Amino acid sequence: MAKFDPNLPFNELPFLPPNIDIETPAILKACIEANKELATLKVAERLIPNQTVLINSIPLLESQASSAIENIVTTTDELFEYAQGEVSGMNPAIKETLRYRQALYQGYKTLKTRPLSIALICDICTTIREVETEVRKLPGTALINDLTRKKIYTPPEGESLLRRLLTNWQEYLHKEDGIDPLIKLAIQHYQFEAIHPFSDGNGRTGRIVNLLYLIDRGLIDAPVLYLSNYIIEHKTQYYEKLLKVTTDEAWVDWVFFFLKAVQETSKWTTMKIFAIQELIKDARDLIKAKAPHIYNKELVELLFVQPYVRISNLVETNLVGRDTASKHLKILCEIGFLNEIKRGREKLFINHQFLNLLKQK
Ligand SMILES: Nc1ncnc2c1ncn2[C@@H]1O[C@H](COP(=O)(O)OP(=O)(O)OP(=O)(O)O)[C@@H](O)[C@H]1O
Ligand SMILES: [Mg+2]
Repeated sequence: MAKFDPNLPFNELPFLPPNIDIETPAILKACIEANKELATLKVAERLIPNQTVLINSIPLLESQASSAIENIVTTTDELFEYAQGEVSGMNPAIKETLRYRQALYQGYKTLKTRPLSIALICDICTTIREVETEVRKLPGTALINDLTRKKIYTPPEGESLLRRLLTNWQEYLHKEDGIDPLIKLAIQHYQFEAIHPFSDGNGRTGRIVNLLYLIDRGLIDAPVLYLSNYIIEHKTQYYEKLLKVTTDEAWVDWVFFFLKAVQETSKWTTMKIFAIQELIKDARDLIKAKAPHIYNKELVELLFVQPYVRISNLVETNLVGRDTASKHLKILCEIGFLNEIKRGREKLFINHQFLNLLKQK
């Protein structure tokens, strides 16, 4: 076993695959469970008529949780309020979290034409940090305990070693070795974090890679999985278990933890998708019953695609002109479906039930 000292660069980090048998009966059982939940999620995602409703909402929650692991804290309300783009009044945490979402979308789009690669992770980290990011050339990167200020882990050093480790990691991602992709997901995530290729942003880049890997393997169609929620809710364990792989080769425990994360968050996301679908149906029924003259399928969908909706959003969709848009939104407030708030001179209309649903754990 490679020797480990938290204060010294862990240049002995072993290449993949791990040289122990990870496919124990308990792991294989957990793997079946996780795959089952993930397959159900994939079906649920396809059932929802307007995919944009999911693609606009779940990745934003994922971005919020993953950024919060790095103490970039935002509220769901403010994220959705600013989700449509750069405006004044955005604080740095909101900006950084929206950049995370942008990086996630960027990766998702790229995968349609290019494989998951070292170049892609550099691009992703560059987008998250808004700083041109390359594989580390300089020493000095370490994970430090916030309270004791002691080093927890010092990743390998030296660009050529980092590149060799990353090439091995990349080959492992794409190698057909008969190991279940969910087991490989867990293994590659440890390895990526242990390599820690960048001076900052490794946790967040690694968590984006997790979703991209699932998409790449065809296990989900889009980045619609709230995986970082499990991680943030078990953050201490996440850190401890990563370290235990380094110090004790505790691969089995790590993979088990990760399979549980996939299982639980797939289940959560599926339930959420069903609840969203119900809510859309309820909204249709309510508007049809209480304001039939303004009912329109596209209008209802828009209120879920953009739960913070502006008059201009209605106008942009060519549904109605400005005056009618304003009237319709007012009526939707009167029947209790939307809430109106003022932001400067602008009016915002909030689909509060949808936001509450997204906020419920
Ligand atoms: N013992 C460990 N060995 C390797 N990686 C670890 C270990 N403990 C934590 N990590 C990973 O390092 C990440 C933090 O690294 P870094 O600050 O570069 O990333 P970040 O994206 O800025 O922050 P964060 O991941 O906290 O959001 C953690 O989120 C986790 O994924
Ligand atoms: Mg950091």
